[in-house]
Amino acid sequence: MNYHWIKIFDNQTELESLIPINTIIVFELRNEKICVTQTQNGFFAVQDKCPHNGASLSKGFCNKNNEIICPLHRYSFNLENGKATSGGAFALKTYPIQSKKNGVFIGIESKWWEM
Ligand code: FES
Repeated sequence: MNYHWIKIFDNQTELESLIPINTIIVFELRNEKICVTQTQNGFFAVQDKCPHNGASLSKGFCNKNNEIICPLHRYSFNLENGKATSGGAFALKTYPIQSKKNGVFIGIESKWWEM
């Protein structure tokens, strides 16, 4: 899989201070709205738009089961694989996060026409 790696922070310290545990920040990168959050299990990035009815997951919250909860109808999604954990065949798109010497990056899949 090919990714565009987009820098979101200058370093890991900045990431940790600006996204403390259970905070959700939304980024708009390459026309995709992406929620970035930190839980006890690490940092995760998933699509912002709920696949059920389009609410912004950035207005929801995370729980101790490493799930993000939609603010509208409370569907829950596993932050690691994006799968709905409250029933239904819904799934969130997930994005890899990499922390390197020169910054923290989110990977966005290249479109087929960009390869
Ligand atoms: S819009 Fe998210 S659960 Fe309905």
